[in-house]
Amino acid sequence: MERVEFRVDEIVEDEIPQVIRINESVLPENYPYYFYEMLYRNYPKAFLVAKVGGKIVGYVMSRVEHSLHMSGFLPGFIKKGHIVSIAILPDYRRKGIGTELMRRAMESLKNVYGCKEVYLEVRVSNRPAIEFYHKLGFRIDHVIKRYYKDGEDAYVMVREL
Ligand SMILES: CC(C)(COP(=O)(O)OP(=O)(O)OC[C@H]1O[C@@H](n2cnc3c(N)ncnc32)[C@H](O)[C@@H]1OP(=O)(O)O)[C@@H](O)C(=O)NCCC(=O)NCCS
Repeated sequence: MERVEFRVDEIVEDEIPQVIRINESVLPENYPYYFYEMLYRNYPKAFLVAKVGGKIVGYVMSRVEHSLHMSGFLPGFIKKGHIVSIAILPDYRRKGIGTELMRRAMESLKNVYGCKEVYLEVRVSNRPAIEFYHKLGFRIDHVIKRYYKDGEDAYVMVREL
């Protein structure tokens, strides 16, 4: 794997359009501008961009939810981090960038936002991403049937923080 110098920063508002372009070029799950803006305003420390020589090559965005504990036996409601979306431009994959974005986002979800666990949805056919999340310590918790618009199922993957 050829390494590359990159840095990870919290997004600034001006960079939202670049993130939207990456999202729309890489993933079929797209969102209106106000959704990005809402995540940026509410959870800025868990909305991160990776840059190579000043160019944004990937992002991760997250939110915080209050719900029942999914893993373990802790009773009641807890704060959960939800990884809403992550994508790296094709030419910049397998260089550790996604791992660093996730590591930093999970650190903020835990230390800034007080989350006890983190979860995400992934297409059951998305082997690279499932492998990627496994390597980051996530496990498959359950399946949501027909979660995606095209009818594909999702795995919900979870990790303690
Ligand atoms: C999934 C994704 C974010 C991974 O980003 P990345 O920067 O390439 O990931 P990393 O380089 O940090 O990879 C870490 C590990 O994940 C696993 N992994 C990553 N891509 C993989 C692939 N294509 N096949 C198998 N394992 C893979 C490997 O174990 C890898 O370690 P290694 O390169 O030392 O073998 C990236 O492939 C991507 O943007 N995919 C398209 C968008 C997408 O599917 N997003 C997730 C939607 S839920």
